Amino acid sequence: MRSGAAVISLLLLLGRVAGGGAGAGNGHPDPEAEDCFCHLTGVLDDCFCDIESIDDFNSYKIFPKLQKLQERDYFRYYKVNLKRPCPFWSNDGHCSIKDCHVEPCSESEVPIGIKAANFNKYSEEVNTVVQLQECEEANKLGAVNSTLSNQTKEAFIDWARYDDAQDHFCELDDELSPDAEYVDLLLNPERYTGYRGLSAWRVWNSIYEENCFKPRSVYRPLNPLAPSRGDGDGESFYTWLEGLCLEKRVFYRLISGLHASINLHLCAKYLLDDAWGRTRWGPNLKEFQCRFHPTETKGEGPRRLKNLYFLYLIQLRALSKVALYFERSIVDLYTGNITEDTITKKQLLEVLDETKSFPMHFDEKSMFAGNKKEAKTLKEEFRLHFKNISRIMDCVGCDKCRLWGKLQTQGLGTALKILFSEREIKNLPERSPSSGFQLTRQEVVALLNAFGRLSTSIQELQIFKMLLKDKRFPAPAVFCFRWSVLKAG
Ligand SMILES: *[C@@H]1O[C@H](CO)[C@@H](O)[C@H](O)[C@H]1NC(C)=O
Ligand SMILES: *[C@@H]1O[C@H](CO)[C@@H](O)[C@H](O)[C@H]1NC(C)=O
Ligand SMILES: *[C@@H]1O[C@H](CO)[C@@H](O)[C@H](O)[C@H]1NC(C)=O
Ligand SMILES: *[C@@H]1O[C@H](CO)[C@@H](O)[C@H](O)[C@H]1NC(C)=O
Repeated sequence: MRSGAAVISLLLLLGRVAGGGAGAGNGHPDPEAEDCFCHLTGVLDDCFCDIESIDDFNSYKIFPKLQKLQERDYFRYYKVNLKRPCPFWSNDGHCSIKDCHVEPCSESEVPIGIKAANFNKYSEEVNTVVQLQECEEANKLGAVNSTLSNQTKEAFIDWARYDDAQDHFCELDDELSPDAEYVDLLLNPERYTGYRGLSAWRVWNSIYEENCFKPRSVYRPLNPLAPSRGDGDGESFYTWLEGLCLEKRVFYRLISGLHASINLHLCAKYLLDDAWGRTRWGPNLKEFQCRFHPTETKGEGPRRLKNLYFLYLIQLRALSKVALYFERSIVDLYTGNITEDTITKKQLLEVLDETKSFPMHFDEKSMFAGNKKEAKTLKEEFRLHFKNISRIMDCVGCDKCRLWGKLQTQGLGTALKILFSEREIKNLPERSPSSGFQLTRQEVVALLNAFGRLSTSIQELQIFKMLLKDKRFPAPAVFCFRWSVLKAG
């Protein structure tokens, strides 16, 4: 963990020296810049903030502090129910060998074994064999290691006693279920799992299609990955998006940002072939290009990455708002070890102080500025949509992906809860723990770890930018294969 972070900072430092003043937005569409996504600069829509400032702020102020915080006992164990059945369709997502025969597991690139050959129906046989291997691999990589030490397990009994004594208003069915278990997040890092194909596609598709605020009269697919009639209609899609009110646009961009972030992790922590038969995880430039390059994504890639920054800003804002809640002396991060708890709280407050110091926060006051009744309805809609999205996560066929999917959705849900509760947080009584705004342990852990994921994404993006710029290692020619293409054709 540590050494990984050190390598990243080193790479960044090198990039800074080598990169000089490149990337300053001068408005010229420089083909070279296009190639390395350097045109991912400038001001974000819907807020007054530029990407370069976020990059710097994240690299130097937030990322290192968050990394340390996430290693503390309070934040490394997340209680989650991974056994809930999928409520929307029969759960065929598990990439079992049987399923694989009928459904391809590979989505975005031709399997290694046949990528040299032309992809056509004659190579199907090869394809199936490779898929079987991929499936076995996916099953292995997607498993959650639920190893916990006996000592840790004993501590959880004590944690439960403490948490039960707290008065919480919101009931989280996941948390209260007997199937909910603590998972050690450090033992189960989010990275490439081989989970892809129809199952993964369907999950994202239903999130975009059925759970975004989509006016009934609009029949065009919301999912940017979905096959669409005609090629160049990316423009009209965004014109349409602009026609939505700010709140609905915000919701769409949050989901898109989450999608980008998760994809970025998979590209940055890819299972790389090692000549010595060992497993090694590292950045896969080709995968990154397939998922984000403008020509591979009909111009979507850079927009998705911008949405990632937008999501980052929203969560950053929420953290700065919730500082007040944690600053109260009665809120502690209980693990039963006073020394540990004190250190954890101090580190958390340091992170929150940094978030407060960011000068260009998203102005959430512009949201829900309509009349009171309208605003209330919208808030409720947001809440229901998020609840639904976390149910859809139960349909994710790979345990590890489900773990991180749930954590990040809950983290984002918690961030929105905070943004909508500003007044309640301001009015918190200092000495009365059980009244007013509350966060459960699970929400706190999800909030900080989800933000940790975004912070890592932005860090990883810097590495890809550098790799793409580096002339000594020319970027591989992209040849991407997408599941959506199969569906369309
Ligand atoms: C789970 O993690 C523990 C601790 O690192 C390790 O000893 C064990 O082999 C792992 N189990 C699996 C199935 O990977
Ligand atoms: C952990 O607890 C289990 C059940 O109580 C016991 O069988 C096992 O030996 C313990 N392991 C260690 C390392 O103490
Ligand atoms: C919840 O998601 C399911 C599956 O995508 C969808 O059918 C349903 O309409 C959604 N409900 C709401 C309230 O968004
Ligand atoms: C309590 O936490 C501190 C700081 O993490 C640690 O050094 C110490 O060993 C812990 N004490 C016990 C009894 O686990």
